Amino acid sequence: MKEIIIAPSFLSANFADLKKEIARCELAKIEWIHYDVMDYDFVPNLTFGSKILKDIVNSSKFKIDIHFMIKVKTKKFEDFFVEYIKCNPTMMTMHIESMTREETQKFYDLCKSNKIMFSLAVSPKTDIHVLDEWLEKLDNILIMSVEPGFGGQTFIPEVLKKVEYLASLKKTNQLNYIIEIDGGINEHTSKKAANAGVEMMVAGSYLFESENFTEKVEALKHD
Ligand code: DX5
Ligand code: ZN
Repeated sequence: MKEIIIAPSFLSANFADLKKEIARCELAKIEWIHYDVMDYDFVPNLTFGSKILKDIVNSSKFKIDIHFMIKVKTKKFEDFFVEYIKCNPTMMTMHIESMTREETQKFYDLCKSNKIMFSLAVSPKTDIHVLDEWLEKLDNILIMSVEPGFGGQTFIPEVLKKVEYLASLKKTNQLNYIIEIDGGINEHTSKKAANAGVEMMVAGSYLFESENFTEKVEALKHD
């Protein structure tokens, strides 16, 4: 079995000491980091623009996974993403609930024309079948295991049914998407997620609020 990818969410990092947070990730041999963009509209919280990401990218070699929890308000949909794309993300995730069908198509085209992995997220209450028509195109599916908006919430176990469904569909239809989970991941919930078929896990408070970052990363990967 392939090793689970652990992507620390910088939402829970100490912003007064980002160098130390980057160093902790490097020491734990982290390959991917997760960057949560929120707009106080799609979700009741506000986070980062692209400047902090640019600074992180300029002082590290991580692959970047940008999780947009936003409703795009720019006249031209694509304009919103320009500065983030300059940060060279490996993957960009938008919530399917925040876009029209036409915007989802634009988001797909934007990712592909910039050689960025195309990823869609689904909130806990969203029916997984909203993704049906995108399954063959998706490089990644982000299953939210908490309501999007805040770190430190409790894992919602019911979402594992979606993971199991996507994992079996992936196998039978030879689909290519990665199955990612985000929210409430710790040493207990990570095992349940891995058993259900999760391949990539985001963890924020569990990692950054700990003194033993590397040990916690290892605890998420192994039984
Ligand atoms: C929440 C964010 C998550 C958050 C996870 O909406 O998408 O990435 O940082 O934090 P934890 O791991 O603390 O639940
Ligand atoms: Zn996230």
